[in-house]
Amino acid sequence: MTLALISALPEELQAVLDLLPDEQRTTVAGRAFWQGHLHGQTVVAVLSGIGKVAAATTATLLAERFAVSAIVMTGVAGGVGPGVNVGDVVVARTLLQHDMDASPIFPRHELPGYGRSRLETDVSLTARLAQACETTLGHPADALGEEAVRAFHLAAPRVHQGLLISGDRFVSRTAESQALQAELPDALAVDMESAAVAQVCADFGLPFSVARTISDRADDAAHVDFPRFLTQVASRYSAAIVAGLLGA
Ligand code: ADE
Repeated sequence: MTLALISALPEELQAVLDLLPDEQRTTVAGRAFWQGHLHGQTVVAVLSGIGKVAAATTATLLAERFAVSAIVMTGVAGGVGPGVNVGDVVVARTLLQHDMDASPIFPRHELPGYGRSRLETDVSLTARLAQACETTLGHPADALGEEAVRAFHLAAPRVHQGLLISGDRFVSRTAESQALQAELPDALAVDMESAAVAQVCADFGLPFSVARTISDRADDAAHVDFPRFLTQVASRYSAAIVAGLLGA
């Protein structure tokens, strides 16, 4: 039983690889897949690539070449729902591709051939992942250090569970974020990969779960220091969440 760990960011992948004592690299289709062990569990860690097609290719290779039995994904996302703030984590219960539009042949957002627009994550894997997120965010200084908690105002980060939406667009305008909110009022956050990985997992019958740290509010407000946030917050959260998931 091999668990796939897909990271959206190189900084995050590195933090996960730092947890593996024995990783070995295999390159397929220009992607480095790192096979190793984490607390007794066989894992393969890889970068998703950016955007839906890149992430779908990565997930397909995990299913076909590495015969993984489940996929867990981490990364960052833009907060869309009210109260979903920078430093919070969103755990997806359902996913949707917000840029899928084959209307009028199919209803807006419906995945042609699937008869639905929303795909569910695996219930028990997601419960375990959400628990690992709650534990990590319950004591953010343990994962991040006091200084990062202060610098990024992360005294009381929250875990949210619900709809995560994906599309081939970095949402950085308030008007666009508001349009997404109006269209999909229950959307918590937006990224560029997760719903594509969910579709591949649905095709292969693989359990899938995803947790994303909110790095921005998907608007045109002044952003936090993004590179610093990735190394000092998002990557450390991801490593702590993955370690927690595997019972560290
Ligand atoms: N990933 C992190 N922030 C994002 C945003 N605002 N839009 C899309 N993907 C993101």
